[in-house]
Parts: sequence; C-alpha cells; structure tokens
Amino acid sequence: DTYALALADRIDSTNTHLMQRAAAGAPHGIVLGAEWQSAGRGRLGRRWQMKLGGGLAFSLLWRFDAGLAALSGLSLAVGVAIVRVLTRHAVPVRLKWPNDVLLDGRKLAGILIELSGDALGPAAVVIGIGLNLASPGEVGQPVAGLADAGVNVGRNQLLAELLNELHTVLDQFSRDGFGAFRDEWLGYSAHLDQPVTLRFSHGEPVDGIARGVDDKGALLVDTGAGTKVFHVGEVSLRAR
Ligand code: BTN
Repeated sequence: DTYALALADRIDSTNTHLMQRAAAGAPHGIVLGAEWQSAGRGRLGRRWQMKLGGGLAFSLLWRFDAGLAALSGLSLAVGVAIVRVLTRHAVPVRLKWPNDVLLDGRKLAGILIELSGDALGPAAVVIGIGLNLASPGEVGQPVAGLADAGVNVGRNQLLAELLNELHTVLDQFSRDGFGAFRDEWLGYSAHLDQPVTLRFSHGEPVDGIARGVDDKGALLVDTGAGTKVFHVGEVSLRAR
C-alpha cells in the first residue's frame, strides 16, 4: 500500500492536480488536500470558492477493478459517506440529489467526481470533496458552514474520519454497487415526497414530486404523467 497524503498551502484545484497525477500513473488511494484553491471547481462547470483555511478541500484517487458501467450511483454513495461522518458529530445534514450535502437547506459540502483516462477498461476516478467550516458567505446559492451547527471538530480529524469512511463505502460500493446504500441514502434525502422543479440544460422546467432514487442512483419523479427516471448530468433539482 502506498502512503500518499499530500497537503498543499495553495493550489489551483486539488481535482485538476490529482487528475494530472492520475494520468501519469499515480497509485490508488492517493489523497491531495489544500488550504486554499485559486480555481476550485464544482459540478456543471461552476466554481467552488472557499476562504483561506475556511474549509476542507481534498481529492482522492480511486482505481476500480470494474469498468465505468459499474459506477452508477457512485457520487450518491460518496454523499452517504460524508453524511455518516457528520451525523456522528450530531450535525443534522441531508442529501440533495445527486450529491449536495445540506445543512438547514443550505449547501454545506459538494462532491465533484471526474473520470481519469478513457472510458474503456478499469475505471479510475478522482473524487473531490469541498466542505465549508466557516460559511463563505453568499455565492449565488445559500451556503452553510459547520460552524453554523456549533460543531468545532478540527480539520485534520475531520479529514481522517472522512477518508476512513470513504474507504469503507468505496470498498463496499466496488462489491455491491449503489443498491447497498439506497435505503440509507433515502433516509437522508432532503426532498423525498416533496414538490420539486427539474431543470434541464435545454427545454422547459418540469414540476413533480420527488420519489427517491433507483438502485443505480437515478432520480425518480412523479410528473403527473407517471414516475419518470432522470440520470445524473441531465437535470438539476430544486425544492418548490
Ligand atoms: C459541487 O458541489 O459542485 C462540487 C464541489 C466540489 C469542490 C471540491 S473542493 C476539492 C476538489 N477540488 C476542486 O476543484 N473541486 C473539488
């Protein structure tokens, strides 16, 4: 096993950097964290901003034996790992599909998973996690920090706990897929049986009632014309 934990003061983005290292053959399990990112990235091309020392930002390289097809629901399972750790610290967090971690309806943590290399053969992914400690202030959407929950756990301890839980979850995910986490995910869901609006990159928004996820992590929504299945990447969800 390779001992591979690196912490940088400042970096462009831990995901960008680890993706480069992954392409150059970096080993399974390597972790890169940073105090501050100048070009932190979120899902759907968004930015991820943090104050210097105001959050936890790290990326983990995970090499699977299976191919890409076995990874559906991975980002939801990673959300479960984060929620397990925070719940142990009595932080009342919920999950918003696919994988935002919410505190009182405001975003506390985000996950960015990127595929390294080509889509054929065993999959390697870089799993990036950003978690606010102090709230970074309003940046387009309501944001929360762990300090808002009155939690005062050190960053190093939190990082260690998250890595530990991620190893547990990712090992089980490799064996059993997302189905093993589905019920737990639903138990943490912020919008189960609630009215939501779905937005697509093209076309009109759709209103419906969130009915949870299937065993691949796809979103189920009652649209009035039956229960429809939506996949990660094609739609974003909002409470109504
Ligand atoms: C999102 O909610 O859109 C995902 C945010 C992911 C942010 C983390 S911070 C560490 C890693 N490096 C990045 O550039 N992004 C992820």
